[in-house]
Amino acid sequence: MDLVAFAPGRVNLLGEHTDYNDGLCLPFAIARGVTVRARPSPDGMTHVESLTLRERDEFDPGAPAPAPADGWRAFARGVVAELRAAGHTLPPAMLEISSDLPAGVGLSSSAALEVALALALLALTGELEPDRRWLAHLCSRVENEWVGAHTGLLDQLATLFGEEHAATLIDFRTGAIARVPMELDGWTLATIDSGASRSLAGSGYNDRRRECKTAAELLGVSSLRDASLTDIVGLPEPLNRRVRHVITENARVRTATEALHARDLTKLGDLLDASHTSLRDDFEVSVPEVERTVARVHAAGARGARLLGGGFGGSVLALFGPDTEPPSDAVSATPGPGAGLR
Ligand code: GLA
Repeated sequence: MDLVAFAPGRVNLLGEHTDYNDGLCLPFAIARGVTVRARPSPDGMTHVESLTLRERDEFDPGAPAPAPADGWRAFARGVVAELRAAGHTLPPAMLEISSDLPAGVGLSSSAALEVALALALLALTGELEPDRRWLAHLCSRVENEWVGAHTGLLDQLATLFGEEHAATLIDFRTGAIARVPMELDGWTLATIDSGASRSLAGSGYNDRRRECKTAAELLGVSSLRDASLTDIVGLPEPLNRRVRHVITENARVRTATEALHARDLTKLGDLLDASHTSLRDDFEVSVPEVERTVARVHAAGARGARLLGGGFGGSVLALFGPDTEPPSDAVSATPGPGAGLR
């Protein structure tokens, strides 16, 4: 019988580009995600099929390390290599991937794919599921070293720790993860595709990471979590604005957490708007298609809207009040359970 693992995509309510700066994020897992069906392979090779893309891959899982590959093929090869490097003995497998999560729209399809593959492969070994923080790190290495995007840990933790009716407050300095109840009281959170697709590998994402690292070095702090608004006065352009985004975004995550506890959705909308302004003007990760989409959803009555995820394209997250009908292309996003075997 096939083993089935599912990992959801995520919406990050607040806290963009803070994860790799030891900061705070407030994501939730959504209903859409990636499913991997797995069973032992009869011929000693690992076979991977993407039902969504109608493409296949095959490699020898026992080779010293599977050869790197481009595109979606990098994921299974990377997960197998990293699990083996961590000491797991993986049987050759037949893996079938399907997804109802679009790629390149800022909903974290990459992390969902890594996590679903890892859970399915580990289930085939019959071992107990490993610690989920450890697994998030392993999947993040796949992303960094096999896929080529130097992303932080947000997406992997979001899919692994998601819960129904709640967002997940993550403190990347301490590793603390806390459940924040999310009662929307008739309001709607929705994502709207801007039409500008992007892949984080090769985008300005890696440049922003480098800028944050340089700024921290200039400030003499181990991460931007320790920077303060008074510090940025001495920094050159645009590093001063990059740091200002990180500091103010961490503060917005704290305020959003309080707003969710207080069920103050008007406040949440204001925070989404403020985050967008900061991501556009200070962190400079917006693009014209995203700006047009933000303007369009505001014209349609959104009470707050911002670019979602790493930026440089992708989706917009918008909040609509109880009396407003979201535009027809808006897809409602509600918190669903985290990754697991199905
Ligand atoms: C992408 C990355 C995350 C995070 C966000 C921005 O989703 O994968 O690690 O940095 O961008 O918040």
